[in-house]
Amino acid sequence: LLRGEVNEKGHLVFGGCDTVKLANTFGTPLYVMDEDYIRDRCRGYVRALKENGLEGMVAYASKAFLNMAMVKIVAEEGMGLDVVSGGELYTAYKAGFDLAKVFFHGNNKTPEEIAFAVEHGVGRIVIDHFAEIDMVADIARKRGKNVNVLIRVKPGVDAHTHHYIQTGKQDSKFGFGISDGQAMEAAKRIIASEHIHLAGLHCHIGSQIFELKPFGLTAEIMEDFRLALMKETGELMEEINFGGGYGIHYTDADHPLDPLEYIKEIADALKARCAEHGLALPRFIVEPGRSIVGEAGITLYTLGSIKNIPGIRTYVSVDGGMGDNPRPALYQAEYEAVVANKAKAEAVRKVTVAGRCCESGDMLIHDIALPEIEVGDILAVFSTGAYNYSMASNYNRLPVPAVVLAKDGRAELMVRRQTYDDLLHYDEMPSWLSKA
Ligand code: LLP
Repeated sequence: LLRGEVNEKGHLVFGGCDTVKLANTFGTPLYVMDEDYIRDRCRGYVRALKENGLEGMVAYASKAFLNMAMVKIVAEEGMGLDVVSGGELYTAYKAGFDLAKVFFHGNNKTPEEIAFAVEHGVGRIVIDHFAEIDMVADIARKRGKNVNVLIRVKPGVDAHTHHYIQTGKQDSKFGFGISDGQAMEAAKRIIASEHIHLAGLHCHIGSQIFELKPFGLTAEIMEDFRLALMKETGELMEEINFGGGYGIHYTDADHPLDPLEYIKEIADALKARCAEHGLALPRFIVEPGRSIVGEAGITLYTLGSIKNIPGIRTYVSVDGGMGDNPRPALYQAEYEAVVANKAKAEAVRKVTVAGRCCESGDMLIHDIALPEIEVGDILAVFSTGAYNYSMASNYNRLPVPAVVLAKDGRAELMVRRQTYDDLLHYDEMPSWLSKA
């Protein structure tokens, strides 16, 4: 069992709630989020900054999972928010989030999004390409505002490969290279511009990373660039934002580290470099997404079709799939699961869990050992809190499932289930088709 307990009925309990009851009450597929776990993780990062003597901020990367209630939790935990679109920004705005604590990312923000951000006092806009410098400066000037910006820098560390390499990530659609001089050029142009203030640097080296070394190496590269920038322009960057990327547990092959270990690695490298450079520590920002919400979520499905292909395999189909979790199809991501209503039963055979989309590639889990199963059993898939709901689609016109928040045995909706009418809501009839 990855997370949760088993009650006397043999049912999986998550967030203090009997998951079988949750499935009966709210229907399936159902995303369930454990509030205590989310808050625990938030606090783990905030504490990690404190214990390392760092001034700065933990900004939750909202792309991992966002809705109004999630914004509320992040605000209550005193954290900042990383957004990458007008939609995420608007959600934060409508939830009453302090937009001064928002970092607005994106490799191609629209003028409308930037105008909204400037108008509402978004804390940092993260500049990602040259044309954006003038775009932000113009918008700020027209509104008589001053905007704090960071530049997204490519530190040249590729942590996506199994063993990190130091050259790979130059070829990325995000940010400015250090080695090709573009980051320095961008910094100079921003410093020379009116109405925008270069507050610091940002980087993000990848996601679902277990190794510490790439983070320490990145800290050194970023601090070296901060020194070079100071020598060349006379400006000392006040903050460095190190992005996110801390890994979580999906299967036994994953060995995530504690937030404290990740932060300490970055902090130690940064401190050592600052000492060598004789520079004060910059404000320290991190943007964890997956590691805040990933393991806080499970998805409950009802088992339907059970198809045994003699001598080959057994396909067990659930009432969801790539619509609510596109990660296996997109990234060959692996998951673990239990039969929630038989959580103590012994595994008897390996099966393949298939989704219900009209697509052969819609498989959720290959070769998972499950107990004796029957139609109507509830399957709980673990670690679905990040990049599942936020990446859900209506493929095959399947409604996006509800999300419930569980705490101390209580569960209430944070997102209601889409209805068929919701699906029709956006449909329009071109006039020439609407004639009788
Ligand atoms: N900051 C920036 C600038 C980012 O680009 C990202 C993730 C994060 C923070 C948060 O990273 P995390 O702590 O969640 O690893 N859809 C993919 C993940 C894409 C992540 C993109 N950027 C997946 O499902 O695995």
